[in-house]
Amino acid sequence: MSSSLATVAYIGATILFILSLGGLSNQSTALRGNLYGMVGMTIAVLATVFGPQVTAAGLPWIIAAMLIGGAIGLYAARTVQMTQMPELVALMHSMVGLAAMLVGIATFIDPEASKGFEGAARSIHEMEIYVGIFIGAVTFSGSVVAFGKLSGRISGNPMLLPARHWMNLAGLMVVIYFGREFMNAHSIAEGMTPLIVMTVVALLFGVHMVMAIGGADMPVVVSMLNSYSGWAAAATGFMLSNDLLIVVGALVGSSGAILSYIMCNAMNRSFISVIAGGFGTTSAKPTAAAGGAQPAGEVTPVTALETAELLREAKSVIIVPGYGMAVAQAQHTVYEITRHLREKGVNVRFGIHPVAGRMPGHMNVLLAEAKVPYDIVFEMDELNDDFPATDVTMVIGANDIVNPSAQDDPGSPIAGMPVLEVWKAKTSIVMKRSMASGYAGVDNPLFYKENNRMLFGDAKKMLDEVLTALKA
Ligand code: TAP
Repeated sequence: MSSSLATVAYIGATILFILSLGGLSNQSTALRGNLYGMVGMTIAVLATVFGPQVTAAGLPWIIAAMLIGGAIGLYAARTVQMTQMPELVALMHSMVGLAAMLVGIATFIDPEASKGFEGAARSIHEMEIYVGIFIGAVTFSGSVVAFGKLSGRISGNPMLLPARHWMNLAGLMVVIYFGREFMNAHSIAEGMTPLIVMTVVALLFGVHMVMAIGGADMPVVVSMLNSYSGWAAAATGFMLSNDLLIVVGALVGSSGAILSYIMCNAMNRSFISVIAGGFGTTSAKPTAAAGGAQPAGEVTPVTALETAELLREAKSVIIVPGYGMAVAQAQHTVYEITRHLREKGVNVRFGIHPVAGRMPGHMNVLLAEAKVPYDIVFEMDELNDDFPATDVTMVIGANDIVNPSAQDDPGSPIAGMPVLEVWKAKTSIVMKRSMASGYAGVDNPLFYKENNRMLFGDAKKMLDEVLTALKA
C-alpha cells in the first residue's frame, strides 16, 4: 500500500473513531457507535500492517502475533462475566502500558529509529521516548495492581504508607533528575542507566499509587488508567511518527479523563482525593464517627402481593435499579413487569444514577439487554423533580444512590453525593434481602420513612412473585 493511500485510510479511520465516540454518548446510537469503531479499527489495522512502514520480512511475525492476540481477545470477550468487565478492562490497559514501554525501549536502542533526528529534533525525540516509557510503565504496573484488587487477588483496603506523598514527590524528583541525565547522554549505552532507573521508579510509582486507593474508588481509578493508557498510546504514536496513534491516543486519553471527572462528581469525590487515596476500605461499616445521627425507628415490610396491589393502583411508577438488580439478574423480570404495567396504562419510567451498580453504564447495559425501551430510561437529573408527582417508586437492589442522608447529614461519608429522591413519591418500595448497607457502608434513613415499604428477598425471586400476582 502506498504511503498516500495509507494516509487516506488513517484519515478515514480517525473520522470513524470520532463518530464512534459521538455514537457511544447515547444509548439509542451506541450500537452504531460500536460499529463505527469496529470498522475504523479494521481500516487502521489493515492500513498499518500493509502500509509502508512494514517490511515483507516483518509481515509473518505481525500476522502470527495478531492471530495469537486475536484468539486470546476473542476467548476473553466470550467468557468474561458482566461483573468482571472492570478487571478485564484493567488488564487490557496494562497491555497498552507494556506496549508503550517496550516500543520506547526498542526505539531508543534501535539506531535506525533515531536516524535523521539532529539538534532540537533529536532532543524532542528523546523526550518523547523518556515520557512515553514513563507513562507506559505507570500505566502497566498501576493496571496490574488494579486488576489484582478488582479480582480479589490483592486486598481492596488502601495501603497507606507513612509519608507516602513525600515518597511520591521524591520519586518525581528522581525521574526529573535522570531525565536530564538521559537527555545529556552521548551514546545509547550511556542513556540506558538513567532510562532503567526511571523505568523502575515509574513501575514502583504505579504500584504505590493504586495500592493506596480503596475499593470504593477503584472504578474511578480504572477509568483514570484508561486515560493514562490513551496518553501512553499517543506517546507511542509520537515515537513511531504515527499520526493515527497520536489522534486515537488523545481521544482515549481525553475521554477517559472526562469519564473519571463525571464519576468523581457523581460520587461527590474530588479527583485529587481519589488519587491521594485512602477512601473506601472494604470493611467500611456505618459508624458513629461518620458523625450523622443514626436513623432510628421501624421499617414496614410488605409482601409481593401487596407490592403488586400498590403497582396496580398506581398511575405513575418510577423504577430505580441498583447493584442488587445486577447481582440477582432481575432485569428480564423487571422488563416483564414494566410491559404488563404499561399495557394497563401505567406510566412506567426508569431513573438511572450515574454510579448505580459497579461500573459506568452498568444499569443501562442490563436494561438494554432486557429490551427495555430507551425512551423510558432517564438519567437522575431528568427525573429528580418528578418524584413528588409519582405514585410508586420501586427501588430494586439499590441503596447508596437513594440515601437521603447524602442531602440531610453533612457528617455522612456520602454527604453531598447527588441521589435519586425516591422518598418524595407517594410510596416507595425498597427491594433487598436484608437491612445491610450498600457499597459506601452507611445506614439508609429511607428504610425508616413512613411512606416507605421494604420487600425483603432476592430481587429476582421477589419480582417473579410480583409478576405472578400482577397477572393473577
Ligand atoms: P449499593 O449501594 O452497593 O447497594 C446495593 C444493594 O443491593 C445492597 O444494599 C444489597 O442489600 C442489595 N442486594 C445485593 N444483592 C441483592 C439481591 N440478590 N437481591 C436484592 N438486593 C440485593 O448499590 P447502588 O445503590 O447501585 O450504589 C452503587 C454504589 O457503588 C455507590 O456507593 C457508588 O458510589 C459505588 N460505586 C459505583 C461505581 C459505578 S461506576 N457504578 C463506581 C464506584 C463505586 P442486601 O445485601 O440487603 O440485599
